Amino acid sequence: MRTQVVIIGSGPSGLLLGQLLGSNGIDNVILDRVGRDYILGRVRAGVLEQGTVDMLDEAGVGRRMHAEGLPHEGISLAFDNRLHRIDLTGLTGKHVTVYGQTEITHDLMDKRDESGLTTIYKAANVQPHDFDTDAPYVTYDKDGISHRIDCDFIAGCDGSHGVSRQAVPQDTVRTYERSYPFGWLGIMAEVPPADHELIYANHPRGFALCSMRSEHRSRYYVQCSLDDRIEDWSDERFWDELRRRLPKEAAEGVTTGPSFEKSIAPLRSFVAEPMQFGRLSLVGDAAHIVPPTGAKGLNLAASDVHYLFEGLRGHYLEKSSAGIDAYSLKALSRVWKAVRFSWWMTTVLHRFPDTDAFGQRIQEAELDYLVHSQAAAASLAENYVGLPY
Ligand code: APR
Ligand code: PHB
Repeated sequence: MRTQVVIIGSGPSGLLLGQLLGSNGIDNVILDRVGRDYILGRVRAGVLEQGTVDMLDEAGVGRRMHAEGLPHEGISLAFDNRLHRIDLTGLTGKHVTVYGQTEITHDLMDKRDESGLTTIYKAANVQPHDFDTDAPYVTYDKDGISHRIDCDFIAGCDGSHGVSRQAVPQDTVRTYERSYPFGWLGIMAEVPPADHELIYANHPRGFALCSMRSEHRSRYYVQCSLDDRIEDWSDERFWDELRRRLPKEAAEGVTTGPSFEKSIAPLRSFVAEPMQFGRLSLVGDAAHIVPPTGAKGLNLAASDVHYLFEGLRGHYLEKSSAGIDAYSLKALSRVWKAVRFSWWMTTVLHRFPDTDAFGQRIQEAELDYLVHSQAAAASLAENYVGLPY
């Protein structure tokens, strides 16, 4: 088989790139090692920057997002038993949209089916080859038969445990990493959210986050120990702990109910440089991971796709290699700013087990500064709604 671009990974990065390419007449094939239902069963992020919304519109999948997504013009920081609103729209003129990644993935998969573009699920042993030449190809096994797809470019959209980053000579890639000494325990429940906006809480017992997927579905998180196990956390214990970490007015707004999803995730920052190796580009989680505190994971995947799509469009439609040659530099410049912001939000909002009295006072001063200085609040807001592409 031959195509123009082979995309490894059918998460939001791969699907969005495939759709943008497809609607510009650039043929592509997506390969994923798991099936569609498995991908749609994953519970992930939910806050979209305007740039991400614009890209989904450009890909022609904005209809349900606009109908069901919730525009949010602010967030609250909670500490000292009080809520402090950050007026995102007042400070930046922009807002964010709350709409689940699972829904986006669904919309993109449906659109891909409609467009007649090829996706091969449950492809085993996917392997990129010869991407340092002008004739790269990808091999994979399906139902016990080996296949080969020749192409012009390979997009590694295969997440943090994918094959693409592993396939490059390891002495050509540099990685940067930070692990945080705690995790997030998250639950989803069919109950109305505590507040109409998100609440990020710093509390002596640890961080808590009140988020949502809709007016009837809530997503909550509490900072937990990396040693905690899901079995240790009954719904009852979770609701008790969440309410203890919120100011009284917010705790009273929490409606409890049975959870239908519960998981623990570690927090880490990770960047691989460069993001391009000849004709293989890394996109999204394949190149970088951010802790979820800044709500940037999915949004960074979208900005990577933007830069790569522009480069590929330039190559095919304008016969220019300038965009594709600049992909890594352009993407990384935005990636690092989001990595910084996510690290900073994590640092300001969590309780670190080894923080001494001095460190604690500095954190309190920083929070106080944030909610009393327009400049400090504007900096948070500008990053939260998303830096320009
Ligand atoms: N071969 C083929 N496909 C693979 C392989 C492989 N060896 N390894 C992983 N994949 C597939 C996974 O099954 C998955 O469907 O690649 C896809 C990667 O998707 P994501 O992990 O969702 O990564 P990405 O598309 O970059 O999405 C960005 O933003 O909100 C954050 O982390 C969150 O998933 C989110 C990310
Ligand atoms: C979520 O709703 O899952 C969510 C929202 C905001 C974050 C992280 C996760 O910062």
